[in-house]
Amino acid sequence: MEVDSGTAAANSGLVVAGLSPLSRTLWGDRGADAELGGDVSARLTWKDLTVTVTHSNGETQKVLEGLTGYAEPGTLTALMGPSGSGKSTLLDALSNRLASNAFLSGSILLNGRKAKLSFGTAAYVTQDDNLIGTLTVRETISYSARLRLPDKMRWEEKRALVESTIIEMGLQDCADTVIGNWHLRGISGGEKRRVSIALEILMRPRLLFLDEPTSGLDSASAFFVTQTLRGLSRDGRTVVASIHQPSSEVFELFDRLCLLSGGKNVYFGKASDAYEFFAQAGFPCPALRNPSDHFLRCVNSDFDKVKNTLKGSLKLQARGACASFIFGFVTFMSIGGFPSFVEDMKVFQRERMNGHYGVIAFVISNTLSATPFLIMITFISGTLCYFMVRLHPGFTHYLFFVLCLYASVTVVESLMMAIASVVPNFLMGIVIGAGIQGIFMLVSGYFRLPKDIPKPFWRYPMSFISFHFWALQEDAAEEREH
Ligand SMILES: Nc1ncnc2c1ncn2[C@@H]1O[C@H](COP(=O)(O)OP(=O)(O)OP(=O)(O)O)[C@@H](O)[C@H]1O
Ligand SMILES: [Mg+2]
Repeated sequence: MEVDSGTAAANSGLVVAGLSPLSRTLWGDRGADAELGGDVSARLTWKDLTVTVTHSNGETQKVLEGLTGYAEPGTLTALMGPSGSGKSTLLDALSNRLASNAFLSGSILLNGRKAKLSFGTAAYVTQDDNLIGTLTVRETISYSARLRLPDKMRWEEKRALVESTIIEMGLQDCADTVIGNWHLRGISGGEKRRVSIALEILMRPRLLFLDEPTSGLDSASAFFVTQTLRGLSRDGRTVVASIHQPSSEVFELFDRLCLLSGGKNVYFGKASDAYEFFAQAGFPCPALRNPSDHFLRCVNSDFDKVKNTLKGSLKLQARGACASFIFGFVTFMSIGGFPSFVEDMKVFQRERMNGHYGVIAFVISNTLSATPFLIMITFISGTLCYFMVRLHPGFTHYLFFVLCLYASVTVVESLMMAIASVVPNFLMGIVIGAGIQGIFMLVSGYFRLPKDIPKPFWRYPMSFISFHFWALQEDAAEEREH
């Protein structure tokens, strides 16, 4: 993107010498160099453009990174990209309108020279139409002409300029209609956009920036507005516009395309060559798809993020369901030991009465004697499930899972022992044990997320004393880390 400054300078000199009468009136008394009005062509180039913004919390963010490109007179350059990719920021940077917290580095050359566009040199049409609703289209443009055109210009000349601008923007049919506001029905949205553009081209600037001129318009109005922009560019002006989701007809009107994604340039070149570029990169545009939709889809990483997150959460949910089943099933099965507890309790009570040993000795020896058996069943069932379900690999994760299961089974055993000491009846003990476990499972955070469980009773204290809850939460936390 070499800028031939010699030619550019010669060019500007040549053209200034031949200013049209209108441009001479408008721009002739300002120095030829700094001006971009009149018939001076504006060739804009930008190189290694980087914009860094500082947020209020002191963090910095690179909004644009190393952008290089150019906009030539007689062409319509479209900036496209997903929302937040930096289109408006690039337009602001090129037109020297960046916010105060944004820092710009890189070079912007105008006709091969470093020049900051002073306010008013280039026209900028913002995204929203700030117009006075009670004026008609012609009045709006006339008032603007009166205020901004040089005093030495005669009123007839100004009026002729207003009329030619109205015709240029295709506003003849609604020239005497009021613009309209919230309570006054006026011209359509597309016509409003065209009035906003008309106000800026009144001064015949050679460089025109537009931020999303077609947003909010139906496809026919968007096409008409873009066609008008193309017409303006054919007049030797340099038009740069950011465009959101153009239809395929609108896309065909673009000369150059600058495609941004996350502040970086994905494509810069002829709009018509973009098909070839994406096809070569392995993303050919399907026959019946709108090319601009296809390009945006290719560069929009937000879709992939959403998809990955969804996929991830589905996987997490499936694993959560599986873990919940394993903990529920294995611990529930432990109730099967209840009859032997009742037998043990009876033996214990008899032996205790006879003074053989006390409660502590019984609890310790009973727990220790059950340990090898519990370790065996938790390791066997845990290992089978862990590898069948392919919970995430790694020995420590596996060990954590099995230990969680072991701890849960031990708690159930203890719970059943406690019940057996209170209810020494097989049937009643099993019903009470199953009931308590059922409630613990209900509030374990699987059927309803912990924050959604009703607070009184179910969350506090039930889910806090539910061992299922702690086992599942820890397991889910482990899974989520990966
Ligand atoms: N002055 C600023 N201060 C803080 N953040 C900013 C500033 N300017 C731009 N940004 C951030 O830079 C990113 C790009 O913003 P920009 O307005 O250029 O996007 P865009 O491509 O025009 O999006 P849209 O299509 O939604 O208009 C956004 O994430 C925005 O929050
Ligand atoms: Mg924007």
